[in-house]
Amino acid sequence: MTVTRSVVLGCGSYLPSRVLTNSELSKMVDTSDEWIRQRTGIRERHIAAEGETTSEMALKAARAALAAAGIDAQSIDLIVLATSTPDNTFPASAVSVQAGLGITHGAAFDLQAVCSGFVFGLATVDGLLKSGAFKRALVIGSETFSRILDWNDRATCVLFGDGAGAVVLEVRSEPGTREDRGILSASLRSDGRHKSKLYVDGGPSSTQTVGHLRMEGRAVFKHAVVMITDVIEDTLKAAGYTAADIDWFVPHQANQRIIDDSAKKLGIPPDKVITTVAKHGNTSAASIPLALTCAVADGRINRGDLVMMEAMGGGFTWGAVLARW
Ligand code: UT7
Repeated sequence: MTVTRSVVLGCGSYLPSRVLTNSELSKMVDTSDEWIRQRTGIRERHIAAEGETTSEMALKAARAALAAAGIDAQSIDLIVLATSTPDNTFPASAVSVQAGLGITHGAAFDLQAVCSGFVFGLATVDGLLKSGAFKRALVIGSETFSRILDWNDRATCVLFGDGAGAVVLEVRSEPGTREDRGILSASLRSDGRHKSKLYVDGGPSSTQTVGHLRMEGRAVFKHAVVMITDVIEDTLKAAGYTAADIDWFVPHQANQRIIDDSAKKLGIPPDKVITTVAKHGNTSAASIPLALTCAVADGRINRGDLVMMEAMGGGFTWGAVLARW
């Protein structure tokens, strides 16, 4: 019996050219390369150029994903852009991407789930594609967190970077076997009791300012591994797999220690874990598609591989998506 699946056709990414190293940061705030590397695994991050916007970076990542998929932009009828750093309060940055691609049909909208945005985007688009409403979609994560950081707060400004990543998904009929390609299962969670542990202290309806990112790092860390591993186990179970079946674990890139502890708890060996946090820092909703693009480009992720993606972020929001590439 055939089943309907959202199949990944290709992925692409974009990183701004400016690289900010830990040693440069140590001249800006009271920190050190050693502290940042030991606590987070981050060595450097990319920072958007002055005037370079989230939608411009998203458009570049989208074009790269379309080229990798070998398809024309005109065949895309849905664009979902996950971001917490939109160009403007409205319209959605996704419509700028749509216009940039010359698309005048279908729909484009932004989705806001902070660092979990890309996972939430994949799950949302999977549902919309499977409903029959759309045929081919771009799911993009793009962020300019450098614009909402307090550059005097050493506890947060060393952690984040800018960048964008995108995947193209197409709805297909698959044979209904273990070899089926596409998204196999997805689980999304949130718990607003934790909203003050990671937030931005501004917004149109509260302060009428953009605000700065604030975080109780230790509290977030404490919850992260438990939430991540729980939601991954649910996602594996829903698709009839175990952690031993995973070919590639592509986690949200917030902190190397969170990634290592989560993989260890699940019994996933380090050589199956894709990490980019050292070079990108935490790029929020962009981190997973950036990591996917690296691992596809260097030949690790191949067609037919079982890929587990997960993220956790402000809200808290968290979730996981299991896909056969
Ligand atoms: O993507 C969304 C999800 N976000 C996350 O996953 C982030 C989760 N949290 C973390 O990754 C970690 O908690 C941090 C990397 C943010 C912090 O690491 P930590 O091991 O939890 O350190 P801490 O916050 O407990 O701070 C330890 C010490 C403190 O000094 P005292 O109080 O022990 O004297 C901080 O003031 O390190 C100090 N500190 C720094 N020192 C040098 C904090 N930031 C810095 C810094 N450089 N940049």
